[in-house]
Amino acid sequence: MGKILITGASGHLGGLVIKHLLETEKVAASDIIAASRNPEKLAGLAVKGVELRAADFNDPASLATAFQGVDKLLIISTDAMDGEGTRLKQHKMAVAAAKAAGVGRIHYTSLPRAEESVIGFAPDHLGTESAIRESGLPFTFFRNNWYAENIFYGLPHALASGQWFSAAGDGRIPYLLREDCARAIAAGLARHETENKVYTLTGGEAFTASEVATIASAVTGKPVAVIPVTDEQLTEGLKAAGFPAPVAAIFASFDTNQRLGLFEPVTGDFKALTGREPASFKAFVEASKAALLG
Ligand SMILES: NC(=O)c1ccc[n+]([C@@H]2O[C@H](COP(=O)([O-])OP(=O)(O)OC[C@H]3O[C@@H](n4cnc5c(N)ncnc54)[C@H](OP(=O)(O)O)[C@@H]3O)[C@@H](O)[C@H]2O)c1
Repeated sequence: MGKILITGASGHLGGLVIKHLLETEKVAASDIIAASRNPEKLAGLAVKGVELRAADFNDPASLATAFQGVDKLLIISTDAMDGEGTRLKQHKMAVAAAKAAGVGRIHYTSLPRAEESVIGFAPDHLGTESAIRESGLPFTFFRNNWYAENIFYGLPHALASGQWFSAAGDGRIPYLLREDCARAIAAGLARHETENKVYTLTGGEAFTASEVATIASAVTGKPVAVIPVTDEQLTEGLKAAGFPAPVAAIFASFDTNQRLGLFEPVTGDFKALTGREPASFKAFVEASKAALLG
């Protein structure tokens, strides 16, 4: 196997992908390169024999060096969400550097139904997918569904107040654990692909906001009522709670996307890659009781 480079290796997902490459896929540490803006944070991987490289999507020179000799590149989408197109620029820089360095295949973490998604930052993902297609390099897209861990953003507050303002209607989300996301990506990186691939990674079951509220109430003993609101009411409420307008609009777009069914459907791609069922979302909520109670 040639060298596999993971960008953003000090992030949550990057670290878990490397863990699963080593432990689940049994890829030799000497075939893995962990790239980060802060490789000094990754000393623990160096001890295991993983090579560390500095790579910052804002610094093309660092990418030209980092991507040398790489067969498979995993571009983990960055967390830059300033509403000014920075993330797409960063990703395009990484794609151009991969092409120039002669990388064998690009793997990219995208989002479900990128062409139709109404999530505020969906254009970053679709634009990156397009740039990768246009590069002519072989590719694998992992269209990752919502992490189960995302419930920690709003649910603890909803449980504390007893009210969950939602514009998601009866739309469903097939949450998957971040760990499962990493497990599937590691499996995809380890396999020998000859075609371009688009995998949509989901959990095994999809849930409405009301169903999540019911599960969380049962686990914590705290009643929570889902209060239906419009997209505009949700955006205004988030602004009133102190979120800057562009952030409020992005958060509200998550509910719109859910209501329109654009996180759905559940797919079999996780199992196709890993040979196992995704972890249960319900069991995850049960195991998160303490975190949900804050
Ligand atoms: N599906 C979902 O529910 C969901 C939820 C949250 C986020 N996401 C997306 O998935 C990505 C990974 O998730 P996560 O949980 O691992 O997030 P995270 O722990 O917040 O990691 C952020 C990642 O962005 C990388 N990054 C930031 N600026 C960069 C730059 N200039 N150049 C290169 N890399 C840069 C970081 O790499 P280094 O610090 O190592 O350089 C790190 O891997 C996120 O960045 C975001 O795009 C998806």
